[in-house]
Amino acid sequence: MIVPRKLIIESLRYFCYKSSRFGRYKLVEPGNVSEPLLIPDDVAKPSYYSTGEPSESIHKIDIKDPNQILLMKKSCTLAANILKTVGECIKIGQTTDEIDKLVHKLAIENKAYPSPYNYKRFPKSVCTSVNNVACHGIPDDRPLEDGDIINVDVTVFLEGYHGDCSKTFLVGNVDEIGTDLVESTEECLNMAIEICKPGRRFRDLGEYISTAANLMGFNVIPAFIGHGLGTYFHGPPDIYHTVNNYPGVMEAGMTFTIEPIIGQGTEVIEILEDGWTAVTIDGSRTAQFEHTICITNNGAEILTKPD
Ligand code: MF3
Ligand code: CO
Ligand code: CO
Repeated sequence: MIVPRKLIIESLRYFCYKSSRFGRYKLVEPGNVSEPLLIPDDVAKPSYYSTGEPSESIHKIDIKDPNQILLMKKSCTLAANILKTVGECIKIGQTTDEIDKLVHKLAIENKAYPSPYNYKRFPKSVCTSVNNVACHGIPDDRPLEDGDIINVDVTVFLEGYHGDCSKTFLVGNVDEIGTDLVESTEECLNMAIEICKPGRRFRDLGEYISTAANLMGFNVIPAFIGHGLGTYFHGPPDIYHTVNNYPGVMEAGMTFTIEPIIGQGTEVIEILEDGWTAVTIDGSRTAQFEHTICITNNGAEILTKPD
């Protein structure tokens, strides 16, 4: 039998992509990280700017008053606007370092501090996590390839409050399973936000998200959780995305993130020598979406919406 030409070309493409059983994409290896960028004097800095160690945290979940919620909304809207602009600029050949420079510039132009900058010594202003990098990818000189999926996680500190959101973007032609993974992850987040309201147990989110992900044929990566935020970047409550026994219920005025990382293979990740980059141990891809929400009297409002 003569093998059709189209099939040969297809197979060669698969071969070139060093493809795994998880689809057609390139495994990511860390590249070179550029020199730190500067933050001008007129941008108010969080505690960890000079020390690397955050001091502003709290011990129990705080309930924000209407004025604090307004300030949260301001920083969250800015984070969402920056993320939207990044999404419009993403293309093949662009490096993650260029994305970092763009996020940094947009933050300081708006008198906001890019929250990741020196947070527990993170060296850049945004996290960029491509393919088998589950999260906390450090922007470097690797150009985006046709078929990549990339999560960009933007957090800004504006007028004393953090706003945190992320999305996973498709670069060029992504294979069917990769596209499905990204769409399913966004759906899991949106469905989870819909069940939030006063009286809802935090632990319901984990059960709900992991059941939905499994039904879609994927797995939640348990190592990464959502979190409360406000004048602090990370604080209570912990939001588990898998089945858990975490106590407590939602109350109006609470602000926290939901940010499931969902994968096509193993649930196990390892952290590379840089102390940050989390990769799946089997090279499978993951996707992540994140919103900061506020519990209202009868449901939840997404704060990280662009205007
Ligand atoms: N934005 C991440 C989150 O969703 C945290 C990043 S911490 C950093 O919680 F230091 F890596 F930036
Ligand atoms: Co984030
Ligand atoms: Co977060």
